Amino acid sequence: MIYLAPLQGFTDYVYRASYAKVFNAIDAYFIPYISLKNNTIPNKYIREILPGNNEQSRVVPQILAKDAAEFKVLENILVENSYSEFNLNLGCPYPMVTNRRKGSGLLPFPDEIYKLLDHFYSRSNATLSVKLRAGLKLADELEAVIRVLNQFPLREVILHARVAGQLYSGAIDENAFSYAKQNLQHKLVYNGDIFSKHDFIDKQNKFPGVDTWMLGRGILMNPLLPHEIKGIELSEKERADLLYTFHQTILERYLEIMDNEGNALNKMKQFWIYFSWCFPNQKKVMKHIKKVKALNKYNPTVKSIFNEIKS
Ligand SMILES: Cc1cc2nc3c(=O)[nH]c(=O)nc-3n(C[C@H](O)[C@H](O)[C@H](O)COP(=O)(O)O)c2cc1C
Repeated sequence: MIYLAPLQGFTDYVYRASYAKVFNAIDAYFIPYISLKNNTIPNKYIREILPGNNEQSRVVPQILAKDAAEFKVLENILVENSYSEFNLNLGCPYPMVTNRRKGSGLLPFPDEIYKLLDHFYSRSNATLSVKLRAGLKLADELEAVIRVLNQFPLREVILHARVAGQLYSGAIDENAFSYAKQNLQHKLVYNGDIFSKHDFIDKQNKFPGVDTWMLGRGILMNPLLPHEIKGIELSEKERADLLYTFHQTILERYLEIMDNEGNALNKMKQFWIYFSWCFPNQKKVMKHIKKVKALNKYNPTVKSIFNEIKS
């Protein structure tokens, strides 16, 4: 199984719904985290979780909270929106978040994680999973965290085996992943640095028994990567047509929902940060996209980028 990782600012509801419509090769879509700001939930998060914006068969919202009380407020909002499965974020690496003991900031405090999970399971029958890093500072933190996670009936645990200080680069700690594989009593989902079928096979060989893979940037850079991994064969023309349809679906939706064309264009430029990697001359493609200042220039630019791969 392949899950789409949550990527704040990239895998928003427009992206997820467009992906499902055009490619349909993903088994679960994780919504980027929602969290409280000044004790309320910002509107941008509400849009992301509305059931009408999330019609794929399995969509999992993610909660970033420092303790059981915050978690419950967010969980209640999700329940009101008909969700019965949640994911707890123990991975976000940014100091603004971790200094408030949220995301991977909770990893050095297994007792706090225990309290949060205990509170959840003492009152709820809903399904919960956890997405975590190997540690805030050191992968040694994993040992105590796993001992806590093993005490609760989690659906699964998704591990991105880097410590927070690494952010999104540097080596994945494969020993930490193996340690989790041996010691966790839950299903373990692999996450991190799968950018090609070759990467996937490499990780599959290293971690036999893992059957679920969460992919983030690899999908943004090549939306057809899940097809490649699952062995769904496509001709070059079919690939180019699907990518173009995907792009158009996203563009149309942004134009529909944004206040003005400029905002839609900004969203598309953000999308191209990763999407440009679909094309052999990524740098040149990104340069063309960055230069565009209006929609009437954007459309022909995109056409010419696609024409180059079709020719
Ligand atoms: C821009 C960006 C935003 C992210 N937002 C989230 C998030 O909201 N929740 C989360 O659990 N992880 C988030 N992540 C981490 C990804 O879900 C994933 O764990 C990480 O990118 C490693 O997987 P990958 O190598 O397949 O991309 C984010 C990563 C990036 C680069």
